[in-house]
Amino acid sequence: MSIIRPFDPTDILKFNNVNSDAWTATYHNGYYASYTAQWPDFCLTIEGSFDKTIKAYMIAKHEPPSPDPQHHGHLTALSISPEFRSLHLAKTLMNLLEILSGSNPRLKQNDHNHDHSNCNGHHDHNHDHMKNEIEINNNNKEKEEEEEEEEEEERSKGNIDGVNAWFVDLFVRCNNTRAIEMYEKMGYSVYRRVVDYYHGMEGIGSTRDELDGYDMRKSMPKDTTKRYVRSNGKDILVSPDQVWA
Ligand SMILES: CC(C)(COP(=O)(O)OP(=O)(O)OC[C@H]1O[C@@H](n2cnc3c(N)ncnc32)[C@H](O)[C@@H]1OP(=O)(O)O)[C@@H](O)C(=O)NCCC(=O)NCCS
Repeated sequence: MSIIRPFDPTDILKFNNVNSDAWTATYHNGYYASYTAQWPDFCLTIEGSFDKTIKAYMIAKHEPPSPDPQHHGHLTALSISPEFRSLHLAKTLMNLLEILSGSNPRLKQNDHNHDHSNCNGHHDHNHDHMKNEIEINNNNKEKEEEEEEEEEEERSKGNIDGVNAWFVDLFVRCNNTRAIEMYEKMGYSVYRRVVDYYHGMEGIGSTRDELDGYDMRKSMPKDTTKRYVRSNGKDILVSPDQVWA
């Protein structure tokens, strides 16, 4: 059995079993502390319920602050201890990142746009499907305003789980096929290839694919027109400067 809890900066003293892996980057201590101070709910650890072994962790954030049009969730590090792989721990953590980055699922449960096939007319909603277009548009506008007010109220009460970002992204070495295939299965696609993204983190005889990174993205529900993703991303080459610009 495992539990999911917030990542604690002191986890770095006991996560060697997870990080002694060629694909996992280890950062300086202050890096983890700064993430947990700024985005505590985006940094999670999975540990054994009884022996407290760290099985997996995720370090993530969201930036730049909303309403910036580039507001997105970002996965900085995800690593699963080799003995606990293929148990859907990565999927569990990525699902949580998407819940935190997307809109609030609890609000969706209250959505009044429900299927009318089973209600037999026994409720208070107006079932007159012959309404003219203007009335429908007015109703939609009112409903949107009501939803915005409701969201604002929930947010002010601290009940909103998701930051309602446009997309989630991550960087992965172009030769990390295991991770790339996994992210593709989860709905991520390559947005661009960052040449020399891992410069300075290479080993002797590193190949181009080891030095370059894919910027992979998945649109969140707010990106209804999918304008933050593209299909030919592997052909779009950029330098690290362009990514940080
Ligand atoms: C890549 C990594 C995170 C996968 O973690 P994991 O816990 O084994 O993955 P999961 O069990 O959650 O698998 C999630 C999905 O990806 C799929 N998947 C996992 N490994 C895969 C592979 N090698 N090829 C294809 N699909 C794979 C799983 O089948 C699962 O899909 P399903 O829901 O259809 O069954 C893990 O191997 C790891 O920590 N690697 C080292 C660090 C690393 O590379 N991190 C990513 C850097 S950005």
